Amino acid sequence: MKTLRLIYFSPTGTTQKIIREIGKNIGLELISENNITKSNTEIDSKIDDNCLTIIGMPVYGGRIPLTAIETLQKLKSNQSPVVIVATYGNRDYDDALLELNEITTNCGFKTIAGAAFIGEHSFSSDEKPIAKNRPDKEDLVKCKNFAQMITAKLNETDINSDLDISGNYPYKKRGQIPGEFHPTTDIDKCDLCGICAEKCPTNAITITDTVTTNGDLCTFCCACVKYCPHEARIVDNPTMNAIKEKLFVNCSERKEPEFFV
Ligand SMILES: Cc1cc2nc3c(=O)[nH]c(=O)nc-3n(C[C@H](O)[C@H](O)[C@H](O)COP(=O)(O)O)c2cc1C
Repeated sequence: MKTLRLIYFSPTGTTQKIIREIGKNIGLELISENNITKSNTEIDSKIDDNCLTIIGMPVYGGRIPLTAIETLQKLKSNQSPVVIVATYGNRDYDDALLELNEITTNCGFKTIAGAAFIGEHSFSSDEKPIAKNRPDKEDLVKCKNFAQMITAKLNETDINSDLDISGNYPYKKRGQIPGEFHPTTDIDKCDLCGICAEKCPTNAITITDTVTTNGDLCTFCCACVKYCPHEARIVDNPTMNAIKEKLFVNCSERKEPEFFV
């Protein structure tokens, strides 16, 4: 194995941080980093035979986000090795890693390792923190440990790709939060800078002399909320507040990364 390629979908940046940290600690030359967060991102779909690919995805409702799957499915590998990583917000990753394994296998990859890491929940706030500031220092050490396990495995003569990845078939049914509950803008705090529109993976936000959000396109990734420099993007409606409260009450106990090697 000579080179390394990183591919990730990461609206609020936690998956990106984890994948970069793992990649940094593998002694291979990084030839490309593909952030596929924006819908319709064009990437080179051909994977070199002597390249290790690391793919990172956040968990949405125990599954891989639909908008990311469209891009992932275009990848074509000829049995080159892949490491799959699911990042979840301290509730559960359910069937996401298993689903990611199926997607990459269908692209022709051979999965040599998998991991579930924890990232600050997209719905976390200062009032109701959920996995706040994760991945933290301890998580980053675990990224390094995982990278060492991968390196050791790559040096084996007969690399086993028969991993016992956690998850169930049939996969958990996808949930859908009704679009009407999308984040909104407090126009008194907003200076129309457009960062929310730029960060939105599905281009659901339009800036004119005000900010309009298309609820049908919103995936509730909360990138607009996390990246707004003025805290003008807010999620404040009874449905979303109930979800946030439930997560805060039930998912505050720290979970730790898991490895499948
Ligand atoms: C729509 C949606 C659904 C989510 N579902 C789950 C879930 O089922 N389990 C969980 O633990 N976290 C869940 N999360 C939290 C994300 O997996 C977590 O915040 C992740 O770190 C986000 O990755 P990113 O920073 O790369 O965007 C969900 C987040 C969103 C936006």
